[in-house]
Amino acid sequence: MKAVKIIDNIYWIGAVDWDVRDFHGYSTNRGTTYNAFLIIDEKITLIDTVKSSLKAEFLERLRSIIDPAKIDYIVVNHVEMDHSGILPEMVELIKPEKIICSKMGHKALVEHFHQTDWPYEIAEPGRDLSLGEKTLSFIETRMLHWPDSMFTYVKEDKLLFSSDAFGQHLATSERFDDQVDQAILVEELTKYYANILTLYSPKVKKLLETVKEIGLEIKMIAPDHGVIWRSNPGLPLQYYEKWSDNIGDGSALVIYDTMWHSTEKMAKQISAGLEEENISVKLLNLRYNHRSDVMREVLNADGIILGCPTLNNGLLPRMAGFLMYMSGLRPANKVGAAFGSFGWSGESIKLLHKAMEDLKFDLVDPGFRVKYIPETEDLEKCVELGRAVGRKIKER
Ligand code: FEO
Repeated sequence: MKAVKIIDNIYWIGAVDWDVRDFHGYSTNRGTTYNAFLIIDEKITLIDTVKSSLKAEFLERLRSIIDPAKIDYIVVNHVEMDHSGILPEMVELIKPEKIICSKMGHKALVEHFHQTDWPYEIAEPGRDLSLGEKTLSFIETRMLHWPDSMFTYVKEDKLLFSSDAFGQHLATSERFDDQVDQAILVEELTKYYANILTLYSPKVKKLLETVKEIGLEIKMIAPDHGVIWRSNPGLPLQYYEKWSDNIGDGSALVIYDTMWHSTEKMAKQISAGLEEENISVKLLNLRYNHRSDVMREVLNADGIILGCPTLNNGLLPRMAGFLMYMSGLRPANKVGAAFGSFGWSGESIKLLHKAMEDLKFDLVDPGFRVKYIPETEDLEKCVELGRAVGRKIKER
């Protein structure tokens, strides 16, 4: 396995994880990559490392360019273990002159690996670090998505090492954006933002404003996951701008779980009501759709209609799990509504309603519930609920 040159004297030396299917609760159906990079200059510099299970692959690529002992600096853009898992072994092997990280990165590295005597150097935002021919500068991106996160920029190449930002969980033998199916690329870029960054949208917005203010020219973006944006680095920036502004595409989602098909019948009629208002709608049964795929859809939708029957005075477990996941990610600026069937106590729609109220969704009040099995007139009311949500979406 060989390194891949991405620009003069800079190489990709990461690893491809074809098998990973679960990334802390996010379904990675297309696997992922852990990207690491090597800059050959007077000061040879390693940017990030890989997950520990892929150490051999990383080392083979690194050794195809240079003996690791010749590396001078290690830059740690992010301490999460998929990028720092082999750091202690690399420090041992390389004996670097400097380990460059953010202030919070220093704290996190010590808290992870308990090594206080490594040669840390805090990357001061705005201060350049010359490697010889190339110059690095650093941008603190605190909470995007960890406190330690930062970007590293190569001034001469206008190349941004963006850590997790602009990444995609996509295992491929190709390394660049122009070599892969564009629809799949955008789908995985979307899913990544939806499941990792939605919560931090205000910070993404601020960061994009800072990038504009300082006039940072970007010719290439090399994230820590997926392909490198060499042909169209503007594309992920445009999408991030749209998502951080919480701008939807006018569509709606009916997300539900069902026990004996009553809530399912209601979901279908609500969907029909939305269609009558010419709203594009997707029916997402949580039994068949993974929460992280549903979140990808939530990112772009304007209307979120949640349906669940009552079980043991609460929700069905799949809806309870989804609700907790979505509430943590805090999607914003949505129209919402709740529905569901019940037998005797009927708490489910109150719980759904409350969760969406907490997210400040613009709610169609008070939602609609049906005892046991919906009759014709109940189903007509479901159509009307769908139409009411549709009208609210169109008024925005
Ligand atoms: Fe790819 Fe936050 O680690």
